Amino acid sequence: MTVEVIPTGAALGAEIRGLDLSKPLSDAEFEAVQQAWYDHIVLLFRGQQKVNDDDLIRFSRHFGELDIAPASETDMAGSQEKSRPEIWIISNVVENGKPIGALGDKEAEWHTDMSYVAEPPMASVLHSREIPRQGGDTSFANMYKALEELPADLYAAIEGRYCNHDSSTTSVGELRVGASAVVDVRTAPGARHPIIRTHPVTGGKSLYLGRRLNGYIEGYSVEESEKLLDRLWAHCAKPEFAWTHKWAVGDLLIWDNRCAIHRRDSFDGSERRVMHRTQIKGDAPR
Ligand code: OGA
Ligand code: MN
Repeated sequence: MTVEVIPTGAALGAEIRGLDLSKPLSDAEFEAVQQAWYDHIVLLFRGQQKVNDDDLIRFSRHFGELDIAPASETDMAGSQEKSRPEIWIISNVVENGKPIGALGDKEAEWHTDMSYVAEPPMASVLHSREIPRQGGDTSFANMYKALEELPADLYAAIEGRYCNHDSSTTSVGELRVGASAVVDVRTAPGARHPIIRTHPVTGGKSLYLGRRLNGYIEGYSVEESEKLLDRLWAHCAKPEFAWTHKWAVGDLLIWDNRCAIHRRDSFDGSERRVMHRTQIKGDAPR
């Protein structure tokens, strides 16, 4: 076996060496990858330029059944013609007047993917096809650690509580197709989940917040909920919980949405950034 696991040395993340993901993995190779993933939350595979959409889907399916891509701020008819329902294209590129992908060139604030549905994807896999010279870095933060180090009064305030995860906006804060702007966070659409969840495989407890915009902690006044959410998010965004990846073409990342959040830096919109993503089905958080 040639699978090498090299931890980033930060609070999460490891690089995996010795695998060509354009080829099927053996059972032993996949088991090594999966164990490293549980241990490190985010895995990086460099130099995977040969990986096409079929390979990306085949690799992702090792972890479980795939979810279809989320609704975006535009219908992106262009990209769906070229790709499959399981592939979500993230890009700022516009072709024939139509964006080929979602999220544009703006900053995406800290979030976890698709937590506004009842059974959010357990993982996302992201493969870089084209990368700007600068910016567009993606950061991850370890939510097991964030919970472990949560101040006691904040822990007591959220223990046993549920948060609503708003579905109206994307991670760059834009309204999705067909959604209307939230006027009262208590009645925002989306899904409610426990703020502290237990990982079904590792058994670890982690903070599960979704995204800040339009979040609401049930059982509190809007004002109290806003204060708690501001404190929670400020805590989660501390650099000691995070690791940042600077992309090169061909890099492939898989992360665990159950115990990590992520964000993306903005970049120069005159450059091209093209990423292909899959998302792997998960269970209702508990
Ligand atoms: C995502 C996401 C960040 C990026 O794929 O879920 O937030 O780097 N992308 O484009
Ligand atoms: Mn995301």
